[in-house]
Amino acid sequence: MTQVQTIAVIGAGIMGRGIAHTAALGGYRTILEDVLPTALRKAEDEIRTNLDKAVELGKFSKATADGAFSRLEYASSVEQAAREADLVIEAVPEEMESKIEIFTLLDKVCRPGTILASNTSSLSVTEIASVTYRAPRCVGMHFFNPVHKMKLLEVVRALETSDDTLAAAFEVGTRMGKEVVIIKESPGFITSRINAMIGNEAFYMLQEGVASARDIDKAIKLGLNHPMGPFEMVDLVGLDTRLHILEYLHKSLGEKFRPAPLLVQYVKAGRVGRKAGRGVYEYPGLEPGREGARKG
Ligand SMILES: NC(=O)c1ccc[n+]([C@@H]2O[C@H](COP(=O)([O-])OP(=O)(O)OC[C@H]3O[C@@H](n4cnc5c(N)ncnc54)[C@H](O)[C@@H]3O)[C@@H](O)[C@H]2O)c1
Repeated sequence: MTQVQTIAVIGAGIMGRGIAHTAALGGYRTILEDVLPTALRKAEDEIRTNLDKAVELGKFSKATADGAFSRLEYASSVEQAAREADLVIEAVPEEMESKIEIFTLLDKVCRPGTILASNTSSLSVTEIASVTYRAPRCVGMHFFNPVHKMKLLEVVRALETSDDTLAAAFEVGTRMGKEVVIIKESPGFITSRINAMIGNEAFYMLQEGVASARDIDKAIKLGLNHPMGPFEMVDLVGLDTRLHILEYLHKSLGEKFRPAPLLVQYVKAGRVGRKAGRGVYEYPGLEPGREGARKG
């Protein structure tokens, strides 16, 4: 099996910085890269803060935190970050053109044996891999937010992903402290597909007047033991993001994923969740102003 020692992470946003934090904690030399120098500085500060917080909470020793921090490096170009990597994890925005641009470049600058992974939450890894000459060495590694706290990693097998690549991704995920599930590529993987279905059904129930949003959330938490109700969850994820996922699932998996009209209406009204100060619920004090709320 491919032995991974050095991991490059492309994109230092919400996910990239969490993946870098967790990879360094797992003992890997980790190189984080972003087009924006400010994103790298913010990532470095946030990783330090989160490692220190974990030490305060007694999760691990200061020596462990310092060790992780010392295994982190920062790069200002994809070439610089990726040329020595055994595994590259891409975490740039969820647009197919961006992923294709990065994978085309990675295929040129990486060693032939390097594994290329995407943290995409919905796009086809088979399509992303098709722009490279190493489709068997491409795989999906879908982490969850916040990466340093969430236990799950979905490893996605694309059409041509090899057994060796899959085994290496599994091993890395395990060393990063994750519980790994392996999935054959399909829209929404496991989590986004189920979550979208539950969240959509909750909007249909609200629309039909079955119960109030508070009572639907209460029932799901106390009756089904979910840590969050579907409306609390969608306010956190963003109603606009949820609508995009549902539209994609509706197109690829059919009628059962047709977005509830009430959800569409909330998005049209600019009620896109916590980030706008109001979604299904109101969040006084979190409003970014009318313009921000409209843009979502
Ligand atoms: N946010 C989540 O909850 C979540 C959860 C699971 C998976 N994902 C997936 O992770 C990926 C990243 O999402 P995010 O939320 O971290 O986004 P983000 O917007 O927070 O971060 C993206 C980062 O990529 C950088 N970037 C853009 N183009 C680049 C390029 N060409 N080269 C290098 N860096 C570049 C940006 O400057 C930014 O810092 C997406 O595919 C998303 O679907 C997100």
